[in-house]
Amino acid sequence: MTDCVKKRIVSGMRSTGKLHLGHYFGVLTNWVKLQNEYDAYYFIADWHALTTKYNDTDLLKQHINDVALDWLACGIDPNKATIYLQSLVPEIAQLHIYLSMITPQNWVERDPTLKDMTKILRTQGATDNSITYGLLGYPVLMTADIIMFNSDYVPVGVDQVAHIEISRDIIRRFNNIYKVQYFKEPEPLLTNIPLLKGIDGNKMGKSFNNDIKISDDEETTTKKITRCITDRERIKRDDPGHPENCEVAFTYWKIFGTEDEIKQIENDCRCAKLGCADCKKCLAKKVNEFLAPMRQKRIEYTKNPETVREILIEGSKKARIEAKKILDGAKEAIKMYI
Ligand code: TRP
Repeated sequence: MTDCVKKRIVSGMRSTGKLHLGHYFGVLTNWVKLQNEYDAYYFIADWHALTTKYNDTDLLKQHINDVALDWLACGIDPNKATIYLQSLVPEIAQLHIYLSMITPQNWVERDPTLKDMTKILRTQGATDNSITYGLLGYPVLMTADIIMFNSDYVPVGVDQVAHIEISRDIIRRFNNIYKVQYFKEPEPLLTNIPLLKGIDGNKMGKSFNNDIKISDDEETTTKKITRCITDRERIKRDDPGHPENCEVAFTYWKIFGTEDEIKQIENDCRCAKLGCADCKKCLAKKVNEFLAPMRQKRIEYTKNPETVREILIEGSKKARIEAKKILDGAKEAIKMYI
């Protein structure tokens, strides 16, 4: 297939720090696969990180670097996908301005994902003054990201689907107001891998202190797996276990084990041949084996920071060429002075 017949996808991640296995299974494996089938644009959303972290920027550059390293370690390939940094493509900010003019205030105010975000921020001590105009524009900026490259699909985790619905509404409104069919209404593309739980059984998240990072070393990973919740009713080593009630460890086995291993673990657990501690020791070994090649790759890139920088700079340059064309068309549709 040549580039001109490939459908296009765009997706991004906020630069808020090192990524974990939730990102890997929820989004990144999908991105790695999709970069072979689509004309893929993957970007680090540093402006989106600023919507909540505008007063906490000391680590901003490091976070960008960490996300880039994690992506490369997982197999996102700059020779297949265009990898760029949002703030190095200023056309996105311009498009955001035009979209902000046409987006009704009440649409952004009722964005459910944004409502959840502000609720969490308030529990962390945010006041009326810390929730900004920029944060309110979160879904508008996301819309600009997506249509900047006129994408057909947006591969994201389920948590982003409501945002994409608003994007579709904004896009439809643009086309209606300016009487054009300029921007496509993109659809979300979801992975079918079940959600990976955190080691405590809740959703994996870095702020919940229950995550396993792609960049964690072997020892840290083993320690975390050892803390995984198992079958709460299995009190003594000799009690028979219930894999179906094993909250975390067995759900990980189903992802990291081979079919035979899963069957074996299930059997040995049920007949109390295998205790939870030993089960998790084996599991830690499996997870470490799985992560080893990624860690290796990450370490190599870490030794070559210039290469990582170059990938972002070159990708952003390439993205800008396409972005400029699309922006010009949008300005023309609005009848701006070009
Ligand atoms: N909101 C997304 C997240 O928190 C990041 C993001 C920003 C994004 N712009 C986007 C995702 C455009 C897909 C498309 O992960």
